[in-house]
Amino acid sequence: MTVLGIESSCDETAAAVVRDGDVVLASVVYSQVPLHQPYGGVVPEIASRSHVEKVRGIVEQAVRDAFPGDPDPWARIDAVAATCGPGLAAALLVGWTFAKGLALALGKPLLPVNHMHAHLWSVRLDRPDLRDAALWPQLGLAVSGGHTCFVASPEPNVFRLLGQTIDDAAGEAFDKAAKLLGLGYPGGPAIDRAARTVPEAQRRAIAFPQGRVAPDHPLPDGLDPALCVSFSGLKTALLTYVRKHPPQNEADVAQLCASYQEAIVDVLARRVDLALGQGNYRSVAVGGGVSLNGRLREALEAVAARHGARFLTAKPCYCGDNAAMIAGLASAGGALPDDDPLARDIDPSLPV
Ligand code: KG4
Ligand code: ZN
Repeated sequence: MTVLGIESSCDETAAAVVRDGDVVLASVVYSQVPLHQPYGGVVPEIASRSHVEKVRGIVEQAVRDAFPGDPDPWARIDAVAATCGPGLAAALLVGWTFAKGLALALGKPLLPVNHMHAHLWSVRLDRPDLRDAALWPQLGLAVSGGHTCFVASPEPNVFRLLGQTIDDAAGEAFDKAAKLLGLGYPGGPAIDRAARTVPEAQRRAIAFPQGRVAPDHPLPDGLDPALCVSFSGLKTALLTYVRKHPPQNEADVAQLCASYQEAIVDVLARRVDLALGQGNYRSVAVGGGVSLNGRLREALEAVAARHGARFLTAKPCYCGDNAAMIAGLASAGGALPDDDPLARDIDPSLPV
């Protein structure tokens, strides 16, 4: 099955064509990062307008790229998939509504996709070698600028939320720290780079809180507080530290970055360790922009190895928001079940 996927949940307008789950025929991503950079974060109104401007051209390019020289590439598409949540309402609306119109015009099925499920699928893209691998039960970690969640998949296309952040997402924690330290937006890559200049023995020189969630903290759906995380205390601790000890030079900033990053990595790795100890997982799949972080990859790979689970991350081009993960998951039968998708609305807080 060949699916055209469309993604517009945040600040990337993306379209891709994927066959049978993992064969990426084309993937086009237009990043709005430069538009939001002056504001230090995503401005929903700007995101929405930019999606409107770009979506048609990006979709047309993906379809052309997928079938070069074909006079009627649209005929090769079996279905149109798009992100219907979670994400920014005004941004989601553009891609989802465009997909509705396109599916109607082409007379092809419309497939709604959960953005978080797709991030977890991203590890499978361009990896046909994994088709026959024993990967389930799988533990998923989706870490991005908007989300941090731990997900159990007993079998393919079944997702059960185990834990999540109760405040900021991991990417937000990176972005807010970078803003505070004057490192620009997005902050994750800048902090990752600065932290690399600090020798390993000194990476934890400054102690940051461990992101624990109180056992009596009210949580949705009876989630386990031990598998939930909080990043807001970390951010406040950084602010307090910087006020008391303003960094004097680049080395001081790098030291702060390294210690702060170690804290985020520890927070995530401990939860993955705990979750792996609670189930019989055969693999760990990590997706989302923050999964590009070098230290996080190292730490999670070590935790997975300790539990005898295979560690899977996406290719760098599929870590951030993209549409190949949307089309890929949908073409593998992982779209949300829906008898009347044309009547479906977006859901900015669509649960896992
Ligand atoms: O998945 P993504 O592109 O978009 C969202 O759905 O949010 O993730 C973007 C986030 C940003 O917060 C960015 O700072 C973070 O991913 N990020 C990183 C790294 N590269 C991107 N965080 C830590 N280390 C990195 N190397
Ligand atoms: Zn995302």
